[in-house]
Amino acid sequence: MSFKTTVQLAKHKHELSNEKRFVKISEREYRSDLPEAAWKNLLQNNNLQTWKGMILAKGVPEITLYPMLMYELQPQTIIEIGAFNGGSAIWFADIAKALEIESYVYSTDIDLSLLDEKAKDHPRVQFLEGDSNYIESILPPELLSTLPHPWFITEDAHVNSAGILEYFHNNGLQSGDYIIIEDTNPLMWKRGIKDEKVIGAYDEDYPDQETLGERLMAELESWLKKHEEEYLIDSYYLDMYGYNVSKNWNSVLKKV
Ligand SMILES: C[S@@+](CC[C@H](N)C(=O)[O-])C[C@H]1O[C@@H](n2cnc3c(N)ncnc32)[C@H](O)[C@@H]1O
Repeated sequence: MSFKTTVQLAKHKHELSNEKRFVKISEREYRSDLPEAAWKNLLQNNNLQTWKGMILAKGVPEITLYPMLMYELQPQTIIEIGAFNGGSAIWFADIAKALEIESYVYSTDIDLSLLDEKAKDHPRVQFLEGDSNYIESILPPELLSTLPHPWFITEDAHVNSAGILEYFHNNGLQSGDYIIIEDTNPLMWKRGIKDEKVIGAYDEDYPDQETLGERLMAELESWLKKHEEEYLIDSYYLDMYGYNVSKNWNSVLKKV
């Protein structure tokens, strides 16, 4: 191995085992190093991103960071709440396959008529329809008890997020598993940042859209304060490009 490679990999390994990597919510600030004007550039066409022709509304940093997290975690089960067109569930399954991880994806949505035809027949993805307010009827405890760990869960429907944290906490989350509450970055919900038509299309789902990031963070923070010793924030996958340069400010959680 070349000297340059050795130096870079050593740095990567060092950061992964950095003792300051996992932190409590009370140690984090609700801000980002990336200024608003830069976020506007990154977010305004976020919904034009595609994977195999299907919408993939993950953040630009997450498109690099999620595969790295997955490689480190080796999740046997991936659960995504908020399937939309199905593009992100297919992306998770394809990334897992490329990383040679034996993983199965469950992706839920209140409205599976939104699914792209191309998403429907993936051998490693199952879509489940249901309202996140009744998560127990979509992913019942009996099913969860059969799903192999580690788990990688992303909550991307922005409904009942504290209830969802509580539900998975009480029904199977184990030490080492990850759960992410997506889109706590408040800037992505502000008028004038995202495309107006895209904002308008979500008005019905999220009547409080303008302040949704703050609400998600407030719910997460108050839940985490009751579980501060059990769930820590993984700063490695949040701060790689600067503090909270992510759509998920302070919301990549590991059960310790
Ligand atoms: C932001 S989109 C998901 C984007 C997708 N995960 C991606 O990365 O491309 C949010 C989804 O949440 C769904 N949703 C809204 N309210 C819901 C609810 N009460 N229960 C379940 N899903 C809901 C919407 O139908 C929508 O498809």
